[in-house]
Amino acid sequence: AKVAILISGRGSNMMALVEAAKAADWSYEIAIVASDKPEAPGLGWARAEGIQTFALSPQGIGKAAYEAQIDAALRAAGAEVIALAGYMRLLSDDFVARWRGRIINIHPSLLPKYKGLDTHQRAIDAGDAVAGCSVHIVTEDLDGGEVLGQARIPVLPGDTPETLATRVLAEEHRLYPRVLAEFVTR
Ligand code: GRF
Repeated sequence: AKVAILISGRGSNMMALVEAAKAADWSYEIAIVASDKPEAPGLGWARAEGIQTFALSPQGIGKAAYEAQIDAALRAAGAEVIALAGYMRLLSDDFVARWRGRIINIHPSLLPKYKGLDTHQRAIDAGDAVAGCSVHIVTEDLDGGEVLGQARIPVLPGDTPETLATRVLAEEHRLYPRVLAEFVTR
């Protein structure tokens, strides 16, 4: 299956998805990496990997025109599935409807806990003993679509949002390629 990845920054999950797909007979390939931030560090990495990239800021053109161009670029690249990987923008209901059931995202919490931002701070503040990450289907309901897979790790005494984020991120990099690989074959 051909997958498009949307990023806004660092792109470490995108890199994990790309690296996994180098395995023989892997079930997906990366058709394009697109970003709403032309300066996203992950874009240069993807380009150096020989992957097609597309960058466009919505600044000045408006959300509808921006999304129409993203949609066109992804379809032109032959993408069948979209994997959000640190894409920090809300997709419109229209866009989600056009890709219904074919957009997935990775979120740094054990959904349905801690939708939205500051997940690690909220897990620590709540005194949670376990934290983790979830891969889910994207719907109009923010971080609310079907959960496809999760990974759990203990919260350690003295954890800060930063130390917890680092350990959860390592789990994200293991979880996301595996779940995406299964998702495209289901
Ligand atoms: C990850 O923690 C991901 O779960 C969240 O945003 C972060 C993106 O990091 N959605 P990266 O750009 O993949 O390195």
